[in-house]
Amino acid sequence: MTAMNRGALLLFVVTSIGWIHHLPGVVLAQENSLPAVVTFTTAEDHKDMLRQLGIQRLRPGYSGNEKDPNHANYDEALANPYPELPALLTCEDGTVVATKAEWLAKRRPEIVELFEKEIVGRIPADTPKVTWNVLDESEGKVGEVLMIETTLEGVVDNSRCPTIDVKIQLKVGRPKGVEKPVPTLMMFSFFGWSRPGATTNRPAFRFPGPTPQEILAKAGWGYAILIPNSIQADNGAGLTRGIIGLTNQGQPRKPEDWGALRAWGWGASRALDYLETNPAFDSKHVGIEGVSRYGKAALVTMAFDERFAAALVASSGEGGAKLHRRHFGEAVENLTGSGEYHWMAGNFLKYGAAEADFGSKNAGDIPVDAHQLIALCAPRPTFISYGIPEKGDAKWLDQQGSYMATVAAQPAYRLFGATTLGVSDDYHTEKMPAVNTGLLDGVLAWRQHDGGHTSGPNLPHFVEWANQRFAATQPEAKP
Ligand code: GCU
Repeated sequence: MTAMNRGALLLFVVTSIGWIHHLPGVVLAQENSLPAVVTFTTAEDHKDMLRQLGIQRLRPGYSGNEKDPNHANYDEALANPYPELPALLTCEDGTVVATKAEWLAKRRPEIVELFEKEIVGRIPADTPKVTWNVLDESEGKVGEVLMIETTLEGVVDNSRCPTIDVKIQLKVGRPKGVEKPVPTLMMFSFFGWSRPGATTNRPAFRFPGPTPQEILAKAGWGYAILIPNSIQADNGAGLTRGIIGLTNQGQPRKPEDWGALRAWGWGASRALDYLETNPAFDSKHVGIEGVSRYGKAALVTMAFDERFAAALVASSGEGGAKLHRRHFGEAVENLTGSGEYHWMAGNFLKYGAAEADFGSKNAGDIPVDAHQLIALCAPRPTFISYGIPEKGDAKWLDQQGSYMATVAAQPAYRLFGATTLGVSDDYHTEKMPAVNTGLLDGVLAWRQHDGGHTSGPNLPHFVEWANQRFAATQPEAKP
């Protein structure tokens, strides 16, 4: 089609829509009364958010390359510039909660509010409905187990903004011929359908041995593989599209709006809605798993949707289980940069500001920290997982800073009478246990495996640990 033809066609379509719209009784989707969907580059969207916040300049992020002059800090002696964490159990009015009832009624909602407002953003109250359609069903051996795999598409109602389509991609697997509903692990997939199968050319993500599906099938579990990018793109340019763009009718975010971590979590919640309708899955025992950016998403999902019964939070680093206040490896200034800010609420950018209408802010000004995100998961079983730098689970992730957050989260678990790591609450002095030494006797668990940037080597440990935790609340066999 020539440019002129295209122009003529467009003019025809536009004028006819306008004309039909004026006919009495014809209600056309309000498409033509909506402003056009905004198309920003990532740099433009990032800049727009800085403008909304009155930020003139951000501090630059650190480099992961130790040869660069602005490389990240890896000196433990300099790693704790803000050694005191925001108090976990002290409410804003100064009272200290001592019971789970007080935690649930008062302190937990305060922490939720701060995370929503400042860190990960708010999910709009009226998110559209999702209709799950089965696209395909097949059976086959996964390892030694005969599994039925169903491919689904979750179509998001887009009547509010018909030019934005969101179709959530999900694949669920269940053992054939099993009468009892099965516990299930939902996994955010890094590499399409194959990610849990770990066929990837990125060596750090690979792990030898059986695939996660094989491990889960053998253990009598089901699985649900979720494609995060089908919910929300993994970049700033995508923020006016996907589920975030759809709810904003194609307009840029406001500072408290949700970022991609929450959007992916929202998608996981909708996938859990589906599992609740399928009696083959034990929807009271669904865990959530993710690695790296999806490890952050898994933790956020678990923290906010209390229906998830367990989490395997793998190699989540900054924005996940790592303390923002730690100056080691990746920093707040990386998360506020244009490559990562879309994971967070716009408001989070304030904490990277060098020059702004409000002066400047840094990690020490963040009103909450990662230990409180972990604490929101209490008392549900939460397993914090890492690998080792030698195999590609980089120091950048700050394993020690994540261990400190896990230690500091323990008091919230204990309010419920839940067992924790079996170490003191002193995050200033507690050091990570040796590699391959799991702290797996409690509801809050930690294990650093000797593999790379993957949850793989910890998955068998997770399954065994989760089975023990779930044992008290097993479902009955179907009559
Ligand atoms: C980068 C980023 C991390 C993130 C990781 C990943 O390294 O800095 O925050 O977790 O990518 O998702 O692989």
